[in-house]
Amino acid sequence: MISVVDTAAHAWRAGAQTVSVGAVRRALAAKFHAAGLDSPELDARILVGHALGLDHTALAAAEARLLDFEEADAVAALARRRLTREPVARIVGAREFWGLRLRLDAATLVPRPETETVVEAALAAVDAGGSRARRLRIADLGTGSGALLLALLTELPNAYGVGTDTSTRALCLARENARHLRLTRAAFLACDMAAALRAPFDLIVSNPPYVASGDIAALTPEVRDFDPRVALDGGSDGLAGYRSIAATASALLAVGGIIVVELGAGQAQAVAALFAAVGLAPRPPRHDLNDIPRALLAAKSAAGA
Ligand SMILES: C[S@@+](CC[C@H](N)C(=O)[O-])C[C@H]1O[C@@H](n2cnc3c(N)ncnc32)[C@H](O)[C@@H]1O
Repeated sequence: MISVVDTAAHAWRAGAQTVSVGAVRRALAAKFHAAGLDSPELDARILVGHALGLDHTALAAAEARLLDFEEADAVAALARRRLTREPVARIVGAREFWGLRLRLDAATLVPRPETETVVEAALAAVDAGGSRARRLRIADLGTGSGALLLALLTELPNAYGVGTDTSTRALCLARENARHLRLTRAAFLACDMAAALRAPFDLIVSNPPYVASGDIAALTPEVRDFDPRVALDGGSDGLAGYRSIAATASALLAVGGIIVVELGAGQAQAVAALFAAVGLAPRPPRHDLNDIPRALLAAKSAAGA
């Protein structure tokens, strides 16, 4: 498919070295729009900026500058990847979560904005229970890029925590993210959910795989074809990860401890029932910015299991 994504490179080869940064950005946005991408202008801006090594401000200042051959080729290569529906975050290899820039690769889920609801719910509970300065012990089950654990550790200066995952590649990246953020209070461990963890924890968080296996084929190509299957597949009803977490949550939590999990749409009742069945007390779910119940908190009281 030769198209405007190759415009700059073609023009350069033909000797017409007249393609400006602004023109190629606009052409790319039009192409992305025609291809039905959700945010064509933004995607074009990020990818042209990434190809040229320019941040938002520098890109705006460079609108009239002409591209050289290597730059034109670099833009075209990134644009071709986006047209296969590879997400922008994967192409640039990073995504912002809770204000932190996290590196990504093929082994990690792209952290989602709605997952910040889990961080909000956890911090609200910590605030309600006293000071953020407490020496909390945190576990993040299925940590991926480390998003949840690292966000919490930046907010809780005396907390320390462990993130688990079955993907050793994801764990390498989570460690790298922790190192970049100088969060030496984070450790990472390869195991099945909490299998290798020693109780007690004051706070457990998790965004487990929660898509029903049969629903994966209908996801957008950006998710279906690029997020790791192990990060999505929650078994036949989407609840396998929650069952596994609920089986050990009560034993893992300190008295007064809490667990906060991300929910898929429509899963609040079923997940609350799983936690209630093991003696934890679920609270009404916290909604995300689209008003979807997104984070479920359950507490272990003194009388709990
Ligand atoms: C939905 S992703 C969440 C990643 C990250 N916590 C986030 O919110 O961006 C689920 C993660 O759980 C991991 N995972 C899947 N099954 C697991 C299991 N049985 N034990 C531990 N981790 C698992 C996947 O590798 C993936 O990194």
